[in-house]
Amino acid sequence: MIDSAQIAAVIEAAESLAALEEARVRLLGKKGEISSLMKEIGAMAPADRATFGQKVNALRDEAQSRLDARKAILETRAEEERLAAGWIDVTAPNPASRHIGRFHPITLLLEEVIDHFTGLGFSVASGPEIEDEFHNFDALNIPKDHPARDVWDTFYTTEREIPRTHTSSVQIRTLMSQKPPLRIIAPGRVFRNETIDATHHASFNQVEGLLVDKHVSVAHLKHTLETLVAKIMGRPVPVRFRPAFYPFVEPGLDLDAQCVFCEGRGCSVCKHQGWIELIPGGLVHPRVFEFCGLDPHEWQGFAFGMGFDRMVMMRYGIDDIRRLYDGKLQLVRQF
Ligand code: DAH
Repeated sequence: MIDSAQIAAVIEAAESLAALEEARVRLLGKKGEISSLMKEIGAMAPADRATFGQKVNALRDEAQSRLDARKAILETRAEEERLAAGWIDVTAPNPASRHIGRFHPITLLLEEVIDHFTGLGFSVASGPEIEDEFHNFDALNIPKDHPARDVWDTFYTTEREIPRTHTSSVQIRTLMSQKPPLRIIAPGRVFRNETIDATHHASFNQVEGLLVDKHVSVAHLKHTLETLVAKIMGRPVPVRFRPAFYPFVEPGLDLDAQCVFCEGRGCSVCKHQGWIELIPGGLVHPRVFEFCGLDPHEWQGFAFGMGFDRMVMMRYGIDDIRRLYDGKLQLVRQF
């Protein structure tokens, strides 16, 4: 007959709740070892039945209480394992809410353009955003009462200070402070009294370029801008020059790039021209050299000044200039 020690051994050997259930069936199930003992009672002498019955009952009670105790232990252990597997540190930072800072697309492209020009021996120059008439207009050969001045929708303060209308003012500051030969680019903000829409803003970015040396021709300008456009668009793009008028260059030119959207076939972006007007420039006007105290017979140069936001919009496929300035994080998070 099964004894107390054997019952204990069977129950303690169970290492899982499933194994414990098997042990219970084996001991107390209908055909279990303890239950089967009861069936032996009928074959016994009546005098022995009472003591035998008491023994079997005691074994059954013992088995039951051991099963209960073991079950409690195994349940606690299972709970602990479950908690350990799915452990949650409620104090840990949520990776989904961690935002890594991004650069604005204007900054990203500007870094590339600066890189390109420093590789060609240019350095980065800057000037004040609040200018005076001399640097913004006069020295650029734009006389006071000349209609050309109206081209720039100029803001004036009551003291006749000018939030600069173009970065060309940095040309003057550079020519008056550095000795040629020189090569600079001047990125910066400019300001105009414009009605704001998808392609115009009252404050936008330009990148000015200026190279002064002994023998400088339109060919140098063309090559410089060609490589610049290729750099910005990530591949060579056909370009062409058209004559244009800017008081501070002679000849004045507009560089067009073949429309990158339709490859010259004509589409709504290029207004079916096949070309997009991209960068104005030209050869530095002799009068500008004179204004800055340089001899135009000794020095030649080229200059250009691109609307930089337009480059950023073309490069990254942004269709509305306001998106560059509305301060919404949805834009920068895409870069
Ligand atoms: N400053 C001119 C503007 O904002 C652009 C420009 C034209 C710059 C010709 C230049 C240049 O340096 O050579 O409209």
